[in-house]
Amino acid sequence: MPEVHATIAGFRAALDASRAAGADVGFVPTMGYLHEGHASLMRAAAAECAVAAASIFVNPLQFAASEDLSDYPRDLDRDLALADACGVAHVLVPSVEEMYPRPVLTTVTVADITARFEGAARPEHFAGVATVVSKLFSIVGPSRSYFGEKDFQQLAVVRRMAADLSMPIEVVGCPIVREADGLALSSRNVYLSPDQRAAAPVIHRALDAAAAAVAAGQRSAAAVEAIVADAIGAEPEAVLDYAALVDAATLEPAAAVDGEQRLLVAARFGTTRLLDNTAITT
Ligand code: PAF
Repeated sequence: MPEVHATIAGFRAALDASRAAGADVGFVPTMGYLHEGHASLMRAAAAECAVAAASIFVNPLQFAASEDLSDYPRDLDRDLALADACGVAHVLVPSVEEMYPRPVLTTVTVADITARFEGAARPEHFAGVATVVSKLFSIVGPSRSYFGEKDFQQLAVVRRMAADLSMPIEVVGCPIVREADGLALSSRNVYLSPDQRAAAPVIHRALDAAAAAVAAGQRSAAAVEAIVADAIGAEPEAVLDYAALVDAATLEPAAAVDGEQRLLVAARFGTTRLLDNTAITT
């Protein structure tokens, strides 16, 4: 089993000792309730770095008062068994008091990239993510840190934060892991009713149809986005929040298919919002 640390000081001391012995540290920050998507990040960290470390912390700073913080799903025993199977040596499982012993006066905000999409829907969210990730980076001192491409805007925000603040950390994006029917893995999938769960793979089918249109020569961003909107609009269980073709680094909306881009989707199934995306590269 991995060594479990409840305190920042204990976790930091263990990783300091690893680094002093010449080991580089790969880090996977999580909010727990781990699934195969997280497992792919932990396996990558263990394969590419001498020591793999992870954190499990449901970060209150990134939830609005109205959001699902208190009923965010938790299963620590299963999480630790999965971390163990993936080769993780150290896991930080701090309390809220350990992470935030006093009111937080210092926060990290990344402008512009956070103004659209998930940032527009959840105004405090990315400042909460950037603040906890920069705090965890300063606790852990990793040389590489691993994030899933499913939360593509989060990945772009963390990459930009690390670059802007000259953090000596490579932010590694790992491919989306999917169920057999195409649904992107997410801790929030447990909230779907059976009918919603059955309908949810429409998102991936819509992205595939849009990517196929691009492969067949479609170059209009509006037409590509309309393919996604029409497919999801035809599913009675789903309500589309956005389908947007964007620059993969800046998340700037694109007018035409051109270069390294990403097609981002958010759709609601009842009260559950699901995110997905695919690379569009020409
Ligand atoms: O993606 C998540 O689970 C969280 O946003 C993260 C990166 C662990 C920060 O709390």
